[in-house]
Amino acid sequence: MGKPVIEIKNLFVDLDGVTVLEHVNLTVNEYDFLGIIGPNGGGKTTLLRVLLGLVKPVRGKVRIMGESVEKNRHLLGYVPQYAVFDRSFPISVGEVVISARLARKQGRRFSREDYKIADAALERVEMLPLRSRQMGELSGGERQRVLVARALAAQPRILLLDEPTASVDSRFAAGFYELLQELNQEMTLILVSHDISAVSTYVKTLACLNRTLFYENSRELSQEMIENTYHCPVDLIAHGIPHRVLPPHNGVVGS
Ligand SMILES: Nc1ncnc2c1ncn2[C@@H]1O[C@H](COP(=O)(O)OP(=O)(O)OP(=O)(O)O)[C@@H](O)[C@H]1O
Ligand SMILES: [Mg+2]
Repeated sequence: MGKPVIEIKNLFVDLDGVTVLEHVNLTVNEYDFLGIIGPNGGGKTTLLRVLLGLVKPVRGKVRIMGESVEKNRHLLGYVPQYAVFDRSFPISVGEVVISARLARKQGRRFSREDYKIADAALERVEMLPLRSRQMGELSGGERQRVLVARALAAQPRILLLDEPTASVDSRFAAGFYELLQELNQEMTLILVSHDISAVSTYVKTLACLNRTLFYENSRELSQEMIENTYHCPVDLIAHGIPHRVLPPHNGVVGS
């Protein structure tokens, strides 16, 4: 295992006076591929927003590559859960992706290198042929792929993905997980998803978040982790978790 790139110690987050995250402890090492599952409202998106500096914790320590969130959040790439987009806003696919290079520009124009990086990112999500299309003309799944390309064009060290396959078709989803494994050679990945069987097939470590984080240093979902998170293992079984990931529990799953 590499060195820790994300360290969270005893994190508490309140939103509108309600405790959304409590006692969250997490260490993510370099080149890890962490999957986070959990019920709706469990705090997954909130946890990512803490890492991005968009939500301030009431308590706890958060470090990105040994430094504060403010100092190092530029090392994070982010693919948001919902691609909310004003369809009338005039911007092309290529413009969205190259805009990721702005943070590094300090007033200079985009270089040939910037365009190369943006095109390579579009190529990776199979969207290069649509580079000149208006964002407003894309389908939901296509738009999501562009947002992945945009995150990649920033050349992040750590990529955060919140339900990136929610509106992509199954052919793209399969290729997408393969792409993530490829990217994992170059960067650390944190993937939030409800697609439990896919997540547990592709990730290196798995955590469940339901206000607090149940985390074990493996891909095994322990019975305790599931019960603590979902309070209902049967729910999970209905989703068809691969046997090799979910150990036998109560004789219901596994073989
Ligand atoms: N800005 C906010 N103000 C008040 N409460 C919020 C705010 N944002 C989120 N919440 C609440 O915090 C809890 C955690 O929300 P969050 O979006 O992190 O869940 P999630 O695990 O990502 O869920 P999902 O699987 O549905 O995406 C929810 O109960 C939600 O209603
Ligand atoms: Mg969410």
